[in-house]
Amino acid sequence: MCGIVGYLGGKDATDVLVHGLSKLEYRGYDSAGIAVPEDGKITIVKTKGRLKNLAEKLETEPAHGHLGIGHTRWATHGEPSDVNSHPHCSNNDRISVVHNGIIENYMEIKSWLADKSYTFLSETDTEVIPNLVDHYFEGCLLEAVINATQRLKGSYALGVISLDDPDKIIAVRKDSPLIIGLGENESFIASDVPAILNYTREVVYLDDMEFAEITGSGIRYYNANMESVEKSSTTITWNADSAEKGGYDHFTIKEIHEQPKALRDTMTSRIVAGQKVKLDDITITREMLESYSRIYIVACGTAYNAGVVGKTAIESLSKIPVEVDVASEFRYRDPIIDSRTLLIVISQSGETADTLAVLRDSKKKGARVIAITNVVGSSVAREATDVFYTWAGPEIGVASTKAYLTMLIAVYTIALHFAELLGTMTDEETDAIKKEMLLLPDKVSKVIEQKESIQKFALKIHGEKDVFFIGRGLDYAVAIEAALKLKELTYIHADAYPGGELKHGPIALIEKNTSVLASLTQRSLLDKMHSNLKEVTSRGAKVMVVTYESNKTVDSFVDTAVHIPETIDLLAPVLAVVPMQLLSYYVCSFKGLDVDKPRNLAKSVTVE
Ligand code: AGP
Repeated sequence: MCGIVGYLGGKDATDVLVHGLSKLEYRGYDSAGIAVPEDGKITIVKTKGRLKNLAEKLETEPAHGHLGIGHTRWATHGEPSDVNSHPHCSNNDRISVVHNGIIENYMEIKSWLADKSYTFLSETDTEVIPNLVDHYFEGCLLEAVINATQRLKGSYALGVISLDDPDKIIAVRKDSPLIIGLGENESFIASDVPAILNYTREVVYLDDMEFAEITGSGIRYYNANMESVEKSSTTITWNADSAEKGGYDHFTIKEIHEQPKALRDTMTSRIVAGQKVKLDDITITREMLESYSRIYIVACGTAYNAGVVGKTAIESLSKIPVEVDVASEFRYRDPIIDSRTLLIVISQSGETADTLAVLRDSKKKGARVIAITNVVGSSVAREATDVFYTWAGPEIGVASTKAYLTMLIAVYTIALHFAELLGTMTDEETDAIKKEMLLLPDKVSKVIEQKESIQKFALKIHGEKDVFFIGRGLDYAVAIEAALKLKELTYIHADAYPGGELKHGPIALIEKNTSVLASLTQRSLLDKMHSNLKEVTSRGAKVMVVTYESNKTVDSFVDTAVHIPETIDLLAPVLAVVPMQLLSYYVCSFKGLDVDKPRNLAKSVTVE
């Protein structure tokens, strides 16, 4: 996720672009840059780090003009660095581009362009675009951009400028947001409304594969056949603060709603039906895998909870035994680590002190380390041997939601990759899982649609002091993450137990109106879980269950049943956890607590 802006009008473009980017920093903040045509050349000022670094650089390297494009980045391809920052330019420095999204086939285009003598400076997927536009440019920028986009697979919102068709911005989007702002004698493009609210409230929402040609005499809209398209504008009535959250009340609920996209992005180019898993940054071979005597997954908090799912995924698909541990325990328990150890660390931020310490110590002892992280160029990413980047985009809410779901995709993908390397599954078997994975984003959207019934249950339990979560197998993994979410967001004491453990103690706490939440997705364990639920309902517990659409058995004896779409049991945590996230969010809102910044917590725990 990145933020893009563009401006054409009477004001100083640099001021408008920098202001716009400041409102889009929530979309990415590892580097920023602008491009402004000036005296027959495009001046590009860009730098690694927060926007304030760019503002400082602009004091010594000023850029002035009436037109320009700008970008704030959340790295996916290539670490945060000056050279990987946007805008990117064509080799002849005549075309410049800002891009939000992921170009899936950039490697293929890159080698096609390299055969035509184009060269590349950065590691980004974006750099192919200005060169592709240059390749097709014959005097009309719009036509060249349309032709270039015919070659692109993936998602993009683009702002494109050229010295040879000057005083013009071409904007287009596909699966990434982009709006056009209409001012008086000035026009804007932006990834989101807050970037332009200082100047105008009149916006046009571009649809997929619609192109805007912005010139001093107005804006024209086209489809991919270069036929003119009529667009109408909308007046924004929100205030700037709520607009930054895309109209949502809090980042946390926005991020819950972003999960389908986060899943799609994380699977992009890695999971393709009928093809082997593609993991460019993991170079482990079959021989290496066969040489490992043990695999550890180590992480903290929610990342650890994703690791619990990872253990089952790797063991069941690739048949390698896996141990999963909390980083702060693992580092002090003197674990057996040597060159026959493969360590997988999971960390959204890539900066968690305990996780990083485990990584460093294990590497010193000869282990190979795979990092799963959401932050490109983070310490964990830099120091690991192999990296799997989750492409969830920046997560602002302290309680992790979308990052967790993408961590699950990461562990499934790695498990499939290992299974393919070792030949533990047939192509048909791995393909069946891939096809199901690709359906998950739409299924998560369906789960989110049920928020009303979850909200009602949240109202019932928001005054509770204790809540119990139960599940068996992977549903226990859902239960521990659900309990953590409830604790963090609502300050209600929550405990998670394997269903079979109830009788061994916790059931003593169940009485009339005790709240019990259960996940029931593991088909071979459904009957056993039904018995556990009977044990608590017969003692008067209030129960909410998350289970498949086909499981209507529970409806008759629980308070609320949230039915999720069918999937294979291994993937069910991706769907089953979503109602639990929503429940915690609604309880937190009913209690009037600070959703995005729960007390005593930090987004990145960089101290022990
Ligand atoms: C998640 O909701 C928590 N805020 C916390 O448990 C978090 O998952 C943990 O601190 C690990 O962070 P990391 O993924 O950045 O390493």
